[in-house]
This record gives sequence, structure tokens and C-alpha cells, in this order.
Amino acid sequence: MGLYVNFQDELKQKTELIEKVIRKYLPKEEGFAKTMAEAMNYSMCSGGKRLRPLLLMETCRMFGGDQALAEPFMAAIEMIHTHSLIHDDLPSIDNDDYRRGRLTTHKVYGEAMGVLSGVALLNYAYETMISAFDTAKEPLRIRKALGIMAKKTGLYGMLGGQSVDVENDGKSMDKEMLDYIYRHKTSALIEAPMMAGAVLAGADEAQTAIVEKAAENIGLAFQIEDDILDVTSTSEELGKPVHSDEKNHKVTYVTLFGIEEAKAQAAGLSKEAVCLLESLNQKNEFLMELIRFLVSRRN
Ligand code: IPE
Ligand code: IPE
Ligand code: MG
Ligand code: MG
Ligand code: MG
Repeated sequence: MGLYVNFQDELKQKTELIEKVIRKYLPKEEGFAKTMAEAMNYSMCSGGKRLRPLLLMETCRMFGGDQALAEPFMAAIEMIHTHSLIHDDLPSIDNDDYRRGRLTTHKVYGEAMGVLSGVALLNYAYETMISAFDTAKEPLRIRKALGIMAKKTGLYGMLGGQSVDVENDGKSMDKEMLDYIYRHKTSALIEAPMMAGAVLAGADEAQTAIVEKAAENIGLAFQIEDDILDVTSTSEELGKPVHSDEKNHKVTYVTLFGIEEAKAQAAGLSKEAVCLLESLNQKNEFLMELIRFLVSRRN
């Protein structure tokens, strides 16, 4: 680890704070659609590293932003991410039975409720972000952040990447296509919170573009590390099955380059991300350490 002495303590404190923010925005389990609200909360409250809201909060802080304005967006990005996981685990996609140390949503509530509660979470994310307008503060920044979140989630973002991923299960693939998949299925949901955090704090176009590039690298490194953990970790440590990629006959950085080379590439991308952010006048040492930590994480 680097020179940041209290990193693990701070990470824990910040994650606990995010947990509280997320809970504030979750739906009530009541009425005829109670089961769906329960299924949404089941997946949202089963842990998870809460990395994306943390990146949003820390990028916002780096640019001197107001955390109160960021909060609905922090909850919303975790809803969007959790929706992506519920659907990623469905029988028609990766067909995995465990997530965040528990049975997957479709295993507990059935496939129909897995599909519905996943979409409902995605929609709830927008309901939550739109509520930011109620504060009557910074409507232009909120509008811009909403646009970023929408684009990075959809056809030109995470969902586009997931579609190319499933379409190519079991097929051979070169690095160019694999990078397209990773830049979309994973980087887009890292770019969204970091860019939204920057924009909500008033960052300009040039600064936001640097944040986007750094986040793209962080996302690529994060997915490469996820591929490595899929073959080197245990299901206990990960809270999700290992060897899921092999089961689905996926080309990954590990199958293309081997573990050592994949590790080296992830480390290089992570370093580049830190350099890009250090080129800005705004500083956040915790964020730099977090980016370094992600490529040595164990889950
Ligand atoms: C898993 O994301 C999906 C990938 C992009 C690899 P995380 O590893 O952030 O999952 P949680 O939120 O901690 O469960
Ligand atoms: C998933 O990639 C990325 C998204 C869910 C958008 P993976 O399929 O590798 O994620 P895990 O390993 O199941 O978390
Ligand atoms: Mg997948
Ligand atoms: Mg998967
Ligand atoms: Mg994986």
C-alpha cells in the first residue's frame, strides 16, 4: 500500500456513511406491490463494496462540492449497479446462484420477480435523482448529472456492453472487442458516478473529460481484476461463485493474456488513472489511494 496511513479505517467509515444514505432512499415495503419492494431491498441491502457511490462522493469532494446535493445520486448509482447485477445473474445471462454472500434475487423470488425488481430498481434510480430538483439548488448541474447517468447506463454504456458480452459467449474474440465490452459493461458505471460527482460540484468540461478518462481506466482495471479473482479467489471471499467465466465460456483478460500479464495491465491502467487525476489542481489523496487499492483487492 501507499503512504496513506488510515486508509482502511477511512474506507470503513465512509462505507458506513454511504450505507445510511442508501437506506434513506429505499422504497417502503407496503401495499399490493410489497413483494417487489422487498425484492428490491433484498438485493440493495445485502452488502456490496458500495464503490460507485464512494467514487461519486469522493470526486464531488475533490471539486469542493456539496454532499447533500450528491446524496440522491449516490443512492441512485448503487440502484443502477444493483439492477445490473440482478440481471447479470439471471438464468438467461450468467446464470449465477450467489451474489454478495446470499442467494441471487431470482433464486429467492423467482425469475419473473428478478426481471421486474431489476427494472424497477433502474426506474427507482431515476425517481431518486429527479427528487434532487426539489431542493431547488443547482438545477443545471443536476440536469447535466442526470444526462450523464442516463447515457452511461444505456445502449451507449453498461447495457450496450452487456449485450455484446452475452452475444459473444463461447465465441473467440480479440482484444479490441473485449475492450469495447469492458469499457461499456464496467467502465461506464465507474465513469457515471465520477463524472456526476464532478459536474455536481461545478467542474468544467475539460476537468470532466479528464475525470472520464481516468474513470475509464479504473473501470478496465477493475474488470480485469474481477476476471483474475474469478479464477484465483474463493466463493467465500467473493460472495459470488468463482469460475463463472469458464462456465459461460467467456474470453477474458485471463484467457487472452494469462494471470501475470493481466495483473500487469491492470496495474498500468490504475497508475495511469492516478496520474490523470493528479494532473488536476484539485486534490483528494483518499481517492488516489482508493484507486491504487482496487487493483489489490480480495473481493
Ligand atoms: C461487480 O461489481 C460487477 C463488476 C463490474 C465486476 P462489484 O465488484 O463492485 O460488486 P459489489 O457491488 O461489491 O457487490
Ligand atoms: C458484469 O461483469 C458487469 C455488470 C454486471 C454490468 P461480470 O459478469 O464479470 O460480473 P460478476 O463477476 O458476475 O460480478
Ligand atoms: Mg456477466
Ligand atoms: Mg456475472
Ligand atoms: Mg466477473
